[in-house]
Amino acid sequence: WLSFEDDVEAILALKQRRNAVILAHNYQTPEIFHGVADIVGDSLALARKAMEVEADVIVLAGVHFMAETAKLLNPEKTVLIPDMGAGCSLADSITPEDIALLRQAHPGVPVITYVNTSAAVKAASDICCTSGNARQVVESLGVPKVLMLPDEYLAQNVARETSVEILTWHGHCEVHELFTADDIRELRAAHPGVVVLAHPECPPDVVKAADFAGSTAGMSDYVGREKPGRVVLITECSMSDNVAVHHPDVEFVRPCNLCPHMKRITLKNIRQALEENRHEVTVDPTIADAARRAVERMLAV
Ligand code: 13P
Ligand code: SF4
Repeated sequence: WLSFEDDVEAILALKQRRNAVILAHNYQTPEIFHGVADIVGDSLALARKAMEVEADVIVLAGVHFMAETAKLLNPEKTVLIPDMGAGCSLADSITPEDIALLRQAHPGVPVITYVNTSAAVKAASDICCTSGNARQVVESLGVPKVLMLPDEYLAQNVARETSVEILTWHGHCEVHELFTADDIRELRAAHPGVVVLAHPECPPDVVKAADFAGSTAGMSDYVGREKPGRVVLITECSMSDNVAVHHPDVEFVRPCNLCPHMKRITLKNIRQALEENRHEVTVDPTIADAARRAVERMLAV
C-alpha cells in the first residue's frame, strides 16, 4: 500500500482541485476501486450513476465504451480516460455497417446492442442492454424476435431464459470466452462445496455448469446475500479481490483471467489524467443524439 500512497494522496487532492469524480468498474484493481474511486459498479450502475454526477470532470477508470457512455449522458462535462488504448474485444467485433446489413437481412426486427459497443454502433441500434438487464430489455419490446448484438454467448444465455427468439452476432469477450465447462468440473473436484458464479459473457456450457449467472454486480450481490462458505467468480481477476474485501468470512477460490484493457488503467495514469487533462473522450455530434437515445431507452426499462 505504501508504494501507492503518494499517488492516492495526489489523486484525492486533484479530485478536489478539479471538482472531479472517478467512476470505476468492478474489474479495476483494488487500489483504484477501494483507494480513489467515488462511484463503483457494473456497466449498468456506472451508466445510471453517470447521469447523477455533479462534477466538472469525470475520470472513467474502465474501458473506452464506458467513457463514451458517460460522455453521452454528460455532454457538458469533461470525460477523461487515463489510457485511450483501453478497448474491448466485443466493442471491436461490430461496426454500424454490419448493423445496416443485418437490418436489411431481418427487416423490422429491433436491434438491441450490448453497452460494450462504440457510440456509433449504439447510434445504429434501437436500444442498449447490459448483462444486468438483458432479459428485461428483450422482453420490454413486446416482439417475438430481436437481434441482440454483438455478444453471441450473452445472447445464447439470455435465449435460454425467454421465449423471445434471439438472433445474434459472433462477438466474444476475450476474457470470458477462455473459461470452459471442464474448468468448472475441475474446480468442483478440487474445492468441494464451492459455489460457482459465472458471468453471462461465458459460453453457455460454462453458465449451465455454474450455480448462478449474473453481471458483476449480480455476482457481488449474490455473495452478500447468500454468504457462501466458499465461492469462485468465473470472471475477471480483480473482481474477487474487490468483493473479498467486504467478506472476510468467505473463501474465494481464484482461477481467473485478466482483461488486458481494464488493466491498462493504473493509479499513475489516473493521476496523469487529472494533472494533464487527458485523454478527453468526445462523441461525434452526428451520432451522439441517436446513441444517447438508445442508452436512455435502456435506462427507462
Ligand atoms: P458488467 O460489469 O456489466 O457485468 O460487464 C462486464 C464486463 O465485461 C464489462 O466490460
Ligand atoms: Fe471487454 Fe471482456 Fe474486457 Fe469487459 S472483460 S472490457 S467485455 S474484453
